[in-house]
Parts: sequence; C-alpha cells; structure tokens
Amino acid sequence: MIARAPRRIVVRFVIALILVFAVVLNSPWTRGNIYEQLPPLFKSSGSSLNLSDTLRAGGATIQAHVEDALQYAIPAGVPHETGEETQDVRLPVPTSRLMDTNLGEKAGANVGLERPTKAYPPWITEPSRTAPIAPPSSRPADMKEYMKKMLRWGRPTWDGHWPPFKDYINMGYDPNRWEEFKMDYRVYEAGHNDLDPTDAADPFAYKPFPAYNTDDWKRRWHGEHVACMGPRNLALNESTDDVVQAYRGIPKDFPPVYAGGYDVVGLDNDVCFDRYSRYGPYGYGDDEYPDNVRHWKAPEIIPEWREVRWGELQDDCLVRNQKRFRPQARTPTVKIPSTVLPEPEVASSAFAIPIDTSKSNIESREKKYHHRTAILIRAWTGYHYEENDITAIRAMISELSLQSGGEYQVFLYVHVKDSSIPIFQDQATYDRILRENVPQELRDIAILWSESIFPDWYPKVMDWQVYWQQFMCLQFFSIKHPEFDYIWNWETDARYTGHHYHFFEKISEFADKQPRKLLWERNKRYYLPSVHGDYQSFIEQTHKDVLNASAHSLIPPPVWGPRPWARAEPPQKPLGPKPPMSFEADNFTWGVNEPADFITLLPLWDPRNTTWSYKDKIWNYLPGVRPIFTPDDGAADWFTHPDFISIDRRVFINTVVRFSKRMLQAMHEENLVGRSMQAEMWPSTVALQHGLKAVYAPHPIFNDRHWPTAYSEAIFDTASSVDEQGAPLENRQGAWTEEADSPYNHDREFNFQGWSWYYASRFPRNLYRRWLNWPIVKQDWGQEEKLDGGSGFDGKLQEKRMCMPGMLLHPVKRMKKEFVKP
Ligand SMILES: *[C@@H]1O[C@H](CO)[C@@H](O)[C@H](O)[C@H]1NC(C)=O
Ligand SMILES: *[C@@H]1O[C@H](CO)[C@@H](O)[C@H](O)[C@H]1NC(C)=O
Ligand SMILES: *[C@@H]1O[C@H](CO)[C@@H](O)[C@H](O)[C@H]1NC(C)=O
Ligand SMILES: *[C@@H]1O[C@H](CO)[C@@H](O)[C@H](O)[C@H]1NC(C)=O
Ligand SMILES: *[C@@H]1O[C@H](CO)[C@@H](O)[C@H](O)[C@H]1NC(C)=O
Repeated sequence: MIARAPRRIVVRFVIALILVFAVVLNSPWTRGNIYEQLPPLFKSSGSSLNLSDTLRAGGATIQAHVEDALQYAIPAGVPHETGEETQDVRLPVPTSRLMDTNLGEKAGANVGLERPTKAYPPWITEPSRTAPIAPPSSRPADMKEYMKKMLRWGRPTWDGHWPPFKDYINMGYDPNRWEEFKMDYRVYEAGHNDLDPTDAADPFAYKPFPAYNTDDWKRRWHGEHVACMGPRNLALNESTDDVVQAYRGIPKDFPPVYAGGYDVVGLDNDVCFDRYSRYGPYGYGDDEYPDNVRHWKAPEIIPEWREVRWGELQDDCLVRNQKRFRPQARTPTVKIPSTVLPEPEVASSAFAIPIDTSKSNIESREKKYHHRTAILIRAWTGYHYEENDITAIRAMISELSLQSGGEYQVFLYVHVKDSSIPIFQDQATYDRILRENVPQELRDIAILWSESIFPDWYPKVMDWQVYWQQFMCLQFFSIKHPEFDYIWNWETDARYTGHHYHFFEKISEFADKQPRKLLWERNKRYYLPSVHGDYQSFIEQTHKDVLNASAHSLIPPPVWGPRPWARAEPPQKPLGPKPPMSFEADNFTWGVNEPADFITLLPLWDPRNTTWSYKDKIWNYLPGVRPIFTPDDGAADWFTHPDFISIDRRVFINTVVRFSKRMLQAMHEENLVGRSMQAEMWPSTVALQHGLKAVYAPHPIFNDRHWPTAYSEAIFDTASSVDEQGAPLENRQGAWTEEADSPYNHDREFNFQGWSWYYASRFPRNLYRRWLNWPIVKQDWGQEEKLDGGSGFDGKLQEKRMCMPGMLLHPVKRMKKEFVKP
C-alpha cells in the first residue's frame, strides 16, 4: 500500500513511446502486402510513420478470415455515386441533446429528468427522453432499385480480403459494401474538454445503488446493508478512492446509438466516464501524476494489487451481510464440490426456487431475502491475463459484489483443458493447476472444472466438448451452488465502460418487465433508431406486422406458452407455466414483473431459413441422430437431417447471457435424456420448448461508420427470399433476419464488423484502446493507416481524453498496450 507520489517521470513515457514505435515497426502483423495489391489511386502521400514502407517490407501473404478482415480491408476513396440516399445518415435527435438535463448527486436513478406525462406500456423502462424524437428518415420508394444503385461501387480488386471482393461482382448483395461508408470518428473526438466546463471540472462519485437501509428499503428486504472492506483495506462507505467517478453530461457531438438504446433499457445516458474516472479506483493511472491530468480526483492510496485477496473480500462481505440472504445462501462457496451426479430429488431441490427469497427488484411482494447472482467469467488453462483483463475484473468485483454487500459474487470459472488431470480427486493437483494458470491476485476467486464430469452426468448426449456444450458446466455449478438464484455467463473479452452494477440491474429490470405477449416476436428484431424512429413506434409497428403476418399465415402464430417438440422421445415436460388466459384476452399483462429465465444481449431468431453455420448441430432430437466428430473432422459440417426443418428453434449470438435456476434445470433435464444443440441455439430453444421467459435486452450498440438509413434497413431489418444472385425477392412480413438474406449467414455476417457489440467485430477493441489512450490504427477508405492515441495525443493535460457513457464492448482481445493490432 503506497501513497501517491507528486511528480511525473517524463523519461518513462519517452521510453514507452519508443517501445510502441519499435513494436509498430517490427511486429508480425505488419506482414501484409496489401498496398502492393492496391491500384495506385489508393497510395496516398504517406503518414509520418511511413507505414506503407513497413507494410511492403513484410512480404508474407495475409491469412485473412473474419477476425482479420476489417483491419486489412483497404477501402477505396471513391465518392458516392448514388446521390442523396447515401449521404450521411439522417439521424434522429443526437444523443447529446437527450442529456442536457440536470442530474442530482445520486446518478443511479434518472434524477431530475422530466417525467413523461402519458402512461407508457410495460415494456418501457422509465423513458428518460425529454425531446421528441424526429421521425425516421423517409425510405426510398423502390428499395430494390436503391440496392441496385448501392451495389455499383468502387469495389477493390485485390485478393486477400474475406469475404473476397471479386465474389460479389455480379451479385445481388455485397457483404463488403459498407466498408466504403465514411468512418464515424465522433466517438473518438468526444473529449473531456467538450463537456460543459462546470461539469468537466466536477467529477462526482457515481453510486448507482438502491438507497440501502432506508425505511422504504427495510420494508422490502430482510437484514441491513453493511459496508464491506475494499482493496485499500478501508470500508467502502468511507473510502472515496474506491468509487467510480463520472461527469455530468456527455461531450457535445457524441454520436447517436445505432441499435438499441439507453432509455429503452433504462441506462443512464447523461453521464460519461473517462479512463481515469472509471478505472482510477482499480489501478489505471497508478503510475501517473494527478497534477498532469486536468480535473482528475486521483485515489490517494495505491494498493499492492497483487496482494489483494478478492475472494476473501467477497466472502467477508457476504458474512457481514448474511442476514440479507436466506440461511442456505450465507456460507462462502465450496470450491471443490463432489462431482457425482445427484439423485433426481436432490437436483430438483437444488434447482427449486426458494419462496423466502426475492426473484427480482421490481416484483411487488412482502419482505424477502435478497436473491444472489453468480458471475462466471469463463477462462481456461493457458489463458494469458493482461493487466487490463485484471483491471476489468477488479471493477466487476468491487462494483457488483463488494459495494452491493454481496448481491453478486464474481468467479473466474477456469476450464482445465486436459480432462485427464485429476483436479477433483487431488487437492495438491488442483492447487498446482491453479498456481500455474491463474495470476496470484485472481486465484482465490477461481474455480476449476473440466469436461471429465459430463460423460457420467449426460451419457446419452455423446458429446461433452465445451465448444459445443458451453453450458453443461453452468448446470453443474448451479446444482452444486444452489445459493445462487441467477448465473451470468461472462467472457474475458467483454468490457463495460460504465458502472457494472447499473448495467446488470437495468438489464435485469428491463427483462423482468417484459410482458410475455409477442415477446418472442419482439426478441428477433433489432431496434435501429435511424430506421424505426422512437422505441414505442417501433414496438407498435412490430406488433402490427407480426399480427398481420400470422393472420395471413406468413409466419407461425405468436408463441403462447410452451412449445414442446412434438416427436420428443421421451416427451418434454415443460417447466414453464401455461398461459393464464387466451392470447386475445391478454392485454400485455402476463409476464410483467416475472423474472426472466434467460437474458441475451443480441436478438433471438429462428435459423431454419438462413444459412447460419451451426443450425443443424442438434443432438438426439431424433433418436440416435447426432453429429459425429472425428479427429479429421471436428466440425461435421456435412451433418443434417431432412426432419430438422420441423424442429422449431432459436439462436442468439455470443454467450454473454443470464440464466435462472429454472432455465438451467430445463437444460439439465434435456441433457439427461440426451438432447442438446450447439451452445448459441441451446438455452433459447429450451426456453421456447419449455415456455420459459427469454428476453433480448436491447442495450445501446454503436457503429464505427455512417450507415445510410435505407442500407441499415436492407441489411439488418430484412426478411426476404433471394434469387440466384442473392438479391432480395419477396419479403416475408414479421420474419426479420430469419430468411435467406439473413445478416447471420456466414458471409453476410461481415456486416457486423463495425458494431460495438457482436461476437467478432473490429470496432470494440479500437474504441476501448483509444479510450484508454493506447495507440490504435485508424484507416479511412482508400487512405493509409494512421496511428492515433498514445502519449501526447490527448493534449498536455489529457484534456482531450475520451469521455463515454456506459457502453458494452466485445470483443476486446489481446489487450497488450503495445499490440496496436491484435
Ligand atoms: C515512405 O517510404 C517511401 C519508400 O521508401 C519513400 O519514397 C517516401 O518518401 C516515404 N515517405 C515519407 C513520408 O517518409
Ligand atoms: C460505514 O459502515 C459501517 C458499517 O456499516 C458503519 O459502522 C459506519 O458508521 C459507516 N460510515 C459512514 C460514514 O456511514
Ligand atoms: C398484411 O398481410 C397481407 C398479406 O401479405 C398484405 O397484403 C398486407 O399489405 C398486410 N397489411 C399490413 C398492414 O401490413
Ligand atoms: C383488456 O382490455 C379490454 C379493453 O380495455 C377489456 O375489455 C378486457 O377486459 C381486458 N382484459 C383483461 C384480461 O383484463
Ligand atoms: C421458410 O420459408 C418458407 C417460404 O417462405 C416459409 O413457408 C416457412 O415458414 C419458413 N420457415 C421458417 C422456419 O421460418
């Protein structure tokens, strides 16, 4: 534990800069020889770095694939030919205009915001909108003509890009088309110095927690919130060093949300975080001097981070707050439970939902114990923990677990890849594997597991590889740790730039509030503000379309209650409730305030008419029919069955999701009889079949380019059959993203590369690095790469440092400061 020193050692930064440049010039990713393949038009006069020189020197050819595609794409600087429609997106009210309201000291609630006068339907979470939203831009009268025009563009001719440019020359679609759209750099340029000067000078402690221990609070919850100890060995209610700070407002000219929205899920959109205010409590800037950063209230104490015992802190916190939780949920987690499959009664009682415990924050009820949520950060043996991975985990533990008094508990859930290692039989072996694979600071939050458990648990599935069966280990965790009511599956390469507690709570509340009526139908569609206007109009239009389409048998009738697989043997016994009334009689009341069994952060959609790669990875829905993997064929891409078309199912992308016990129980029961599906199709399908409540929470997602509104609609809000060239033929109302032109098709999926949240997009890592002021490469279409960020780029006093509202980012991989490119 040391106190902060007063001056800065400039030399260190010079050395760092030199190192960065050295890496830039030598590292293996500069191998590409893209510029040689470019027509001379694209050779620009060169940057000070002379990257073109560097690139040419490399020689090796590019191994382009989805992950690498964006960064190697060299866009062509041809002006738009298509006139008005391709101009900059006509946007609804820019986000910043939604934020000029005064915020009280407690930022958690939308304090001080004007309340809407009219009653909002239940799927709206406290709308914080104060200005009317502009109507969506007018649509081209003839979308087919529009797309034809759009597809005439200056398509590059060089090889080495995936999807290959030349594959789409005479096609009716082109997944690369968007790369020519103008980059939207506003997010990078929205700096601390663009805030209102009074707000910029006054970062405040951001504590988005309930008003603990008030009379009102005590009427609803057992026990009392007791402050826990933090990493600085100070009680968290008395240590300002440990608290995230925020600025009121967001910088002017901050770009608008591309998909989803802040007000939609009830997230604060009127505060922003810079790298110091957000991560300062967790070690960011420990080596910097506060007087060199304008308006930074730096922590005064710097802990010896490696010595911090996060597991002990969390356990101690639970004990201090134990009266808030049911007696069975008060004891610290047993790290090495028995791996024996429990008898059915024991499993059922582990999965049972305790009646003395709350299920959510918003249900109306008598006084109850607080529910507990485990966060399992999925890691594996051999994973290399970068400093920033650890910083992000510190933030999760402090904000979710310690400051809430144990409502959440964060674990590192480590997959031991070699399943022959007897970690469960031998403590010494367990400890050795832990020591060898997890940094000291994280060891006591780690729990090891391996695939060796599951052949005994689920012998009939006949495949237990985590790659396909991601969640068997969550079923195991839930059975062995019934003290947790919910489990979030989290990935090491996800980041949230705001406050974790606020995000997790608001997402859950949004999901819990959703009425069940037309929920599965709403779940499949992206809300794109530039296309759809305000959220309520979007919802109303979605409902109208769905009802009309199902009345005309274009889509199946809306989901209403469980939809078990008719030919299941043994039959499925739905765990979800039967509808309390008919579909027609329900006025969107069924399901409101019912806790969600499954929450996703991207839509849930039916893959059957798409060419999504894994749609036929189905185990034993038809007895004995399952993919068989061999050492030579680990993917069994050939595997299919004609009857699969009749298995109604749903996919969600990316495995950052929340489960209820009941959800995991249903998956467990299905696995016991041998049924399974690929991980991103599995819980969602089980939820559909068992009638559980599954919700896509449309959190705000940004795009790295200006997409013309009509083009956004054509790509992400479409449902058409296609002709031989892949051009849209006939739209099927109400089947958004579920038809032959689905954006989830293997090549069309490239359209998501600029999204701030998807499974393999490029934008998040750059955005996040630049926010940390780590060097990144920016590249405009047809221009050379430019280095941005790093020492000196944010001004003398870091006054130009980026300030962002809470934003969820994925993937943010290989976070070594010097790795400008991953
Ligand atoms: C970059 O390198 C090329 C080839 O060596 C050279 O012709 C050019 O002048 C250099 N540009 C700059 C800006 O140094
Ligand atoms: C902090 O919490 C502890 C334990 O709950 C309490 O005794 C103390 O008075 C609190 N301090 C402040 C400043 O509220
Ligand atoms: C309803 O569906 C029918 C049949 O596809 C279509 O002709 C009609 O335009 C639709 N009406 C609306 C309001 O969408
Ligand atoms: C739904 O609303 C209609 C019209 O307001 C009303 O007649 C009906 O009774 C309501 N149904 C239920 C189940 O509340
Ligand atoms: C697939 O498309 C056909 C033809 O449009 C349609 O009849 C069928 O219902 C679709 N299937 C699914 C699962 O959406």
